[in-house]
Amino acid sequence: LNNGVGQTPQMGWNSWNFFACAINETVIRETADALISTGLADLGYVYVNIDDCWSSTTRNLEGDLEPDPKTFPSGIKALADYVHEKYLKLGIYSDAGIYTCQVRPGSIFNENRDANLFASWGIDYLKYDNCYNLDIPPKKRYPPMREALNATEHTIFYSLCEWGVDDPALWADNIGNSWRTTDDINDSWWSMTAIADLNDKWAAYAGPGGWNDPDMLEVGNGGMTYQEYRSHFSIWALMKAPLLVGCDVRNMTKETFEILSNKEVIAVNQDTLGIQGRKVSAEGLDGCRQVWAGPLSGGRLAVVFWNRFQKLPLLQPNGIPLVLNQL
Ligand code: DGJ
Repeated sequence: LNNGVGQTPQMGWNSWNFFACAINETVIRETADALISTGLADLGYVYVNIDDCWSSTTRNLEGDLEPDPKTFPSGIKALADYVHEKYLKLGIYSDAGIYTCQVRPGSIFNENRDANLFASWGIDYLKYDNCYNLDIPPKKRYPPMREALNATEHTIFYSLCEWGVDDPALWADNIGNSWRTTDDINDSWWSMTAIADLNDKWAAYAGPGGWNDPDMLEVGNGGMTYQEYRSHFSIWALMKAPLLVGCDVRNMTKETFEILSNKEVIAVNQDTLGIQGRKVSAEGLDGCRQVWAGPLSGGRLAVVFWNRFQKLPLLQPNGIPLVLNQL
């Protein structure tokens, strides 16, 4: 989408993967503080994105969305002001349906009203989900919010979260700054590798202004090993995926920080050429010895050697486990 943002994949943090609905304004403020104090903000992680569950279960009497008074008593504008003072940006979440996935009011048929409200709060980023969608195809439901956001004259990064429904890479380039290519990630090697392969299929359609989104990072959430998280981060960077941290950055381990703060890997992701790297070879059992690569500006090339050997014992037809050196 040609709205001036997303010239490189978005970088920041999102509340969902770690906190799900257990969010409040203190978590958001402390996360903004932590992005600054750890140095992650200086490395490019500038979007602080609030996911589902920030809003009340009903609209107010005027028909506007309003923050849950128990968890966000100071309101979203106050949070936006807080993060802006730190030169960070604030993201919010809504849904292209009648409810969000956690059954808060959605924005379908209220696109202009909600976009104006977000703009008046100083919101910089909208993640737009796909629940309770009345069976209207995403191609129809996502453009009205683009129009509404454009009409606000406030630049808002528009992140489509349609879960890959109807192959968005083929139609979303003019609609959003990124589009999900798959269903939700979970914090496991199996999910992460499957999603990487699904996202790879759409590599040709990504570029400055419009990126394939294989979902947010799980690095630091505990379900994968250090090496697995390193490969997760490397492949997401090479695929020009959004680098949206999904852990509790207030309590990161040294290892998690080391992965997320790797300047060379970030530089691959943020390279100005903006071409998505791809899987270029897969050899060995189940194609477990993989090479992924893609061009960078200045005639350079980024290459990832990815050992996808699965940890579960692989049994031969005769029941005897395969030994590693046979691969
Ligand atoms: C589904 C999305 O794909 C997730 O990323 C998250 O936003 C949840 N909905 C929230 O309910």
